[in-house]
Amino acid sequence: MEFIERIISNSKKLHKRIVLPESFEERTIRAADQILEKEIADIILIGNRDELLKFASKQGLRNIERARIIDPAGFDKKDEYAEKMAEMRKSKGLTKEQALKLLDDPLYLATMLIKFKEADGEVAGAMNATGDVLRPAFQFIKTLPGITVVSGVFFMLLRDKDFGENGILVFADCAVHPDPTEQELAEIAVTTAKTTRAIGGFEPRIAMLSFSTNGSAKHALCDKVINATRIAKDLDPTLEIDGEMQADAAIIESIGKKKFPNSKMAGKANVLIFPDLQSGNISYKLVQRLAQAEAIGPVLQGLAAPINDLSRGCSVDDIICMTAITAAQAGGK
Ligand code: ACO
Repeated sequence: MEFIERIISNSKKLHKRIVLPESFEERTIRAADQILEKEIADIILIGNRDELLKFASKQGLRNIERARIIDPAGFDKKDEYAEKMAEMRKSKGLTKEQALKLLDDPLYLATMLIKFKEADGEVAGAMNATGDVLRPAFQFIKTLPGITVVSGVFFMLLRDKDFGENGILVFADCAVHPDPTEQELAEIAVTTAKTTRAIGGFEPRIAMLSFSTNGSAKHALCDKVINATRIAKDLDPTLEIDGEMQADAAIIESIGKKKFPNSKMAGKANVLIFPDLQSGNISYKLVQRLAQAEAIGPVLQGLAAPINDLSRGCSVDDIICMTAITAAQAGGK
């Protein structure tokens, strides 16, 4: 809980404008109400103002009036936005008419509000699939300079405080990019280091995971991890990173020392980079269930502005937490 409380308390100081486009979704409107009441962020909702206020009042919510509410039907910048969108996606054949239609979709409108600096970040996914939340962001927000790939991090809060950083392990990519190249895997490591500092508040010690440690097995899949480690070191020579290594060599000191004696951080990793999305997604779910760890995420990284995707099974508290994380990302803290 300490971890989440720190992020929420930090986001209160930032006053970031976060858009929650799934505004007619019950958990989302409840979360918006609490976020406004506790002043965790400024909230932008999308929909008809009267209908939205009626929806909120039916549930006994009293703070929604304090949100900025944008109705796609009467939005005065729609024409200007559509023109700019068509210009941005000219090479993909997007016309202004098609862009106007896209702006009726709250997920696209939310993304464009960020693009044109009317909002600082977005949280969605309580009722939409990952791809539907991410596609507008991929198309219009794009990636940070020097980064080509968006990925998703989980902060795993473990019961056993001996692992990672006082019981916190950062896992990536567990959410977005199915089969990264070695260059992309290196970028994921570098971006995860930044997210670890910004959201976790600690210095990353990164293990590049494989089924082999320090050359114990020979396979093209291990070579990919070895090469990605080398590229990551080139991209950021200050990184504390090693690989390829197995998960036990990464997180258990005695095994790290034995299997990878020339590594300073083997056995002490607080960040685990998985070789692909299958291994990352499977691992976070197993640790969450078998070790009863709290999984905070996915926190999306690599986008030029923060947009975060919820699980469709999320709770009101999850939406509040993700809004605070999004505000922290927007604040660069
Ligand atoms: N980073 C940056 N840009 C990307 C990425 C990425 N990881 N993936 C796709 N893009 C860009 C493409 O370059 C393309 O840009 P362009 O239109 O300007 O040329 C655009 O996004 C669309 O690309 P597509 O390949 O058509 O992407 P698509 O929409 O088909 O797929 C998606 C993207 C949905 C994210 C896909 O990679 C995917 O399904 N990933 C897995 C998501 C998932 O199911 N995760 C597990 C569940 S989440 C959980 O358990 C927490």
